[in-house]
Amino acid sequence: MSLMEEIIAAVDEMPPFPQVVQRAMQELADPAYEVSGLVDILKVDQAVTANILKLCNSAYFGLPRKVSSLKEAVVYLGADQLRQLLVSGAASKIYEKPNEGYAVFADELWRHALATAVMAQVLRRHLRLKLDDNMVFTAALLHDVGKVVLSAFVIDKYRAIESLVEGGECSFQEAEKEVLGFDHAEIGGKIAEKWEFPPEIIAAIAFHHEPSRASKELRLLTEVVALANNLAVMVGYGTGVDGLACRGHDLLLKKLNIVEKDLEGIVLLFQIEMEKTCDIAGLGES
Ligand SMILES: [Fe+2]
Ligand SMILES: [Fe+2]
Repeated sequence: MSLMEEIIAAVDEMPPFPQVVQRAMQELADPAYEVSGLVDILKVDQAVTANILKLCNSAYFGLPRKVSSLKEAVVYLGADQLRQLLVSGAASKIYEKPNEGYAVFADELWRHALATAVMAQVLRRHLRLKLDDNMVFTAALLHDVGKVVLSAFVIDKYRAIESLVEGGECSFQEAEKEVLGFDHAEIGGKIAEKWEFPPEIIAAIAFHHEPSRASKELRLLTEVVALANNLAVMVGYGTGVDGLACRGHDLLLKKLNIVEKDLEGIVLLFQIEMEKTCDIAGLGES
């Protein structure tokens, strides 16, 4: 099997994105969702149910009494917090695999993904973009999922990739493509396709390092994820190698109409939201 065939086989072997989470997200996308319908979907998965109750009863919320029914917990948490808990619970398991190939710890990649998701949400709200919040969070959280597959192949080829980058001829992502035949964004797009995600999310993952390649109608989400990725690295949630790939940053700022003084507010909001999300995502892990 050629290296490229091996990589494609590894994509095929990726576990599916949990059905329960996907169905619950579809339900939550409707602002008039029925709590009982949502409970019916969630109760099938015991681990998900346990996580929801655990979060609801955590010190974070400090409720005066214990919540023991799933229905009550769903009502209490509300759509936004439920979404974050569900998607981050599923994504954290996917990112859990060791990522030695990228010379980063799995935990570091997970923190980077979470920071990018929070940053993308902050950008959407700050810029009042007409994008679905859930779509923004999910696409940004999973933007580097291709690294989970490629890490096993990068281990052997890391020196070759690194020397291309150090030679200054190309970005990390271009070097990946040169050496492995694929880059992590492309592989991430293939994984998102396999999971049957909507085209906006597939494009945002596949083109997060080159948003101009996304088709016009899918470009806004891709640009938000690309910028969120860069900003997450800049505020200290990078993965060591991603810093080398922050190309086109000024162009993205311009396209999204962001001036220097906006960035201060964005970073401040990010810090507040990141703390909240870490509590929710951390508590959701079992
Ligand atoms: Fe990336
Ligand atoms: Fe990234």
